[in-house]
Amino acid sequence: MICYSDACAADIDELIRCYRQVLGESDCLRFSLSEVKFSREDELEFVNRFTNHNQSKLIAAKYNSRIVGVASIEGSKMKKFEHVGELGLMVEKAFWHQGIGTALLSQLIDWAVSNPVLRKITLHVFEENERAFNLYKEFGFQVEGYLRSDHCINGKYFNSYLMFKEV
Ligand SMILES: CC(C)(COP(=O)(O)OP(=O)(O)OC[C@H]1O[C@@H](n2cnc3c(N)ncnc32)[C@H](O)[C@@H]1OP(=O)(O)O)[C@@H](O)C(=O)NCCC(=O)NCCS
Repeated sequence: MICYSDACAADIDELIRCYRQVLGESDCLRFSLSEVKFSREDELEFVNRFTNHNQSKLIAAKYNSRIVGVASIEGSKMKKFEHVGELGLMVEKAFWHQGIGTALLSQLIDWAVSNPVLRKITLHVFEENERAFNLYKEFGFQVEGYLRSDHCINGKYFNSYLMFKEV
């Protein structure tokens, strides 16, 4: 059974393992495996960015003690942008098509709706990542921008969508 809970400092080793796993098997995230340091200090600072900020949240999906998916909303520290949160989502490939991405998104959006400051969730998704794009559309995200040739994979240029949802 998959359990969902806020990620905390005790999850750092599993978070590092999960990020490495997803980056190694998918080209759908903005950063690449080779450019992330994954030191425990960096990862602790990363987790603290979510646990110490009222407009931010990091949820982990766990299968037994193994983290198999992570979803996050990171709010801005700038006053003028404090109502906007940026969403991130990933699930290990071996656990795709089991509703984990849906469950993570659902919990995160419920939380965002109940947050007294957040008004808008934004995200960046590669155009070729149709499953993620469709999942976001199912949750009511709309396209608000189209970025041409904004990322390059193996010498080939691709486009991205910026999407948003009001909460
Ligand atoms: C995009 C991503 C998060 C989706 O995660 P997921 O856990 O597979 O998503 P879900 O299972 O909740 O739902 C997605 C699909 O599974 C289907 N599904 C949902 N529950 C299901 C269930 N219980 N049984 C079978 N299929 C199910 C949905 O209908 C949907 O189908 P689709 O392929 O026709 O769209 C995952 O593919 C991923 O992490 N990709 C790599 C990283 C990435 O792209 N992140 C997003 C960056 S913007």
